[in-house]
Amino acid sequence: MPRFRALVLHPDRAAIGELTELLAHLDLAVEATGSATDAARRLRQHAPHAILAGHDPPGLDGIGFLDASVAAAPDALRVLLVEAPGVGAELEHRAPTAPAIVRFIARAGQRSHLTALIGEAIKLLGLVEEQRSLVARLAGEHERLKRRGTLLDVVVKERTKELEDSYLRLKEAHRQALFGLAEAIEAKDPYTKGHCGRVAAYALVLAKEAGYPAEGLETLEFGAFLHDIGKIGIRDAVLLKPGPLDDVEWSHMREHPVKGYEIARRIEILHPIMAAVRNHHERWDGTGYPDRMKGDAIPLAARIVAIADAYDAMSTDRPYKAGLPLAECERLLRKCAGTMYDPELIELFVTRRIGAIYEDELAAGE
Ligand SMILES: [Fe+2]
Repeated sequence: MPRFRALVLHPDRAAIGELTELLAHLDLAVEATGSATDAARRLRQHAPHAILAGHDPPGLDGIGFLDASVAAAPDALRVLLVEAPGVGAELEHRAPTAPAIVRFIARAGQRSHLTALIGEAIKLLGLVEEQRSLVARLAGEHERLKRRGTLLDVVVKERTKELEDSYLRLKEAHRQALFGLAEAIEAKDPYTKGHCGRVAAYALVLAKEAGYPAEGLETLEFGAFLHDIGKIGIRDAVLLKPGPLDDVEWSHMREHPVKGYEIARRIEILHPIMAAVRNHHERWDGTGYPDRMKGDAIPLAARIVAIADAYDAMSTDRPYKAGLPLAECERLLRKCAGTMYDPELIELFVTRRIGAIYEDELAAGE
């Protein structure tokens, strides 16, 4: 079955036979007719790839037919078959915007010219069709990939968002539970009310001033809030004793960093704050507890929490003493710099007036 179709309109039966044979050799399916009305009808039914029209006015206006065929078959090759040389001259002077007509004078000697012309045109048509189908296939493929990409994108984004939300909710629930626990310990003793929150605030500001890594600040604040979590394991008789502790009681009280560490070790979310929990009672000179660490060997988070914790103890009322004013606290902290506390951190704490954060509230007795 030929891929391409030709429509022949010619008044002469012999010429139709000759043209049909020639076009069939070029592998074209040929429809031929002597009537312009019939040709127009066939043209509307299927757009042919090549249209060959004779020209024999006034009976047959081949030029008019080819011009009109553009509407039904815009891409077709149009060939006008003329006998009279004058028509050819007339065609050469047509406006460049007129529909394309390839002129051919149907003399016996130019039959090979017509064959070559139509043969080349058919090859060109083949290429154009292949290109069109390739473009259509690629466009379809592109569209499919785009749709699939968009769908995948939407699904991945939704799932990621759900996972992130779940993780954040879980993390928040853990945090709330642990804060609740720390506050419960704190609430046992009315004198330490607000202690955890203030220690966390002092520690956070001091850490920022000390150039603590930004990505670790949240963890540090969390660790400072929970540094005394081990007090959950201290007997109330010792924890809440209004007076000074005896040696046995002190030794029990000093177990709280390790008890806290044991709790933190079992809870994954607390792993990053284990150092602050375990080592916030170490001393710069190595005489602290529980590990008797010294100087820089004490984790930075623990050194920061130690100062925040000490300052809050000095500046607030306790059963056995009243809270000291800021300047007096700063003097005491400086006095202990290099023995109990990291001297550089103490200098920062004092010079940046970090203790002043809650000064007004503490003065107002809140
Ligand atoms: Fe403590």
